[in-house]
Amino acid sequence: MQKEIKINFHVIAGYSDLTETEKKLFDAASNARKNAYAPYSHFDVGCAVLLENGEIVSGSNQENAAYPSGLCAERTTIFWTAANYPDVKMKKLFVIGAPEEAVTSVPIPPCGACRQAILEYEAKQKEGIEIYFASVEGEIFKTESVRDLLPFSFDSSFL
Ligand code: THU
Repeated sequence: MQKEIKINFHVIAGYSDLTETEKKLFDAASNARKNAYAPYSHFDVGCAVLLENGEIVSGSNQENAAYPSGLCAERTTIFWTAANYPDVKMKKLFVIGAPEEAVTSVPIPPCGACRQAILEYEAKQKEGIEIYFASVEGEIFKTESVRDLLPFSFDSSFL
């Protein structure tokens, strides 16, 4: 028997179609991207998280000469957020990625490890986090929860 899983995502045509709040998040992720430390991949990623108290926290990818010791922008941002605002819910997460100096328009989705890390905080806060991903220009994709990016997700219910 073959079964099918459907995921949902929204396509936003571009920056001008974002709400004011979403534009602030895009801008925060875009600014954070300028602080990416990516001397090995030359792929710069910025991330911004909107908290339920209205604050925006941002971060960028941080690489290392020992490659696996580096960290993606999303995990840099959500781990810092969770460490400093342990009881404040994360509402929206915006990620923008592109090769440095390049102007690309293909939305860059969070990697698998980041999806798993985001899922942990959705479970912790018992509420989904809207995930937006984009490149420096062009369409912006949005899911209402990381579960749409991670079907068959592994969580603590299996332990
Ligand atoms: N990267 C992120 O920061 N987020 C992702 O979701 C995809 C990849 C970073 C990791 C590494 O510094 C560079 O992009 C190339 O993989």
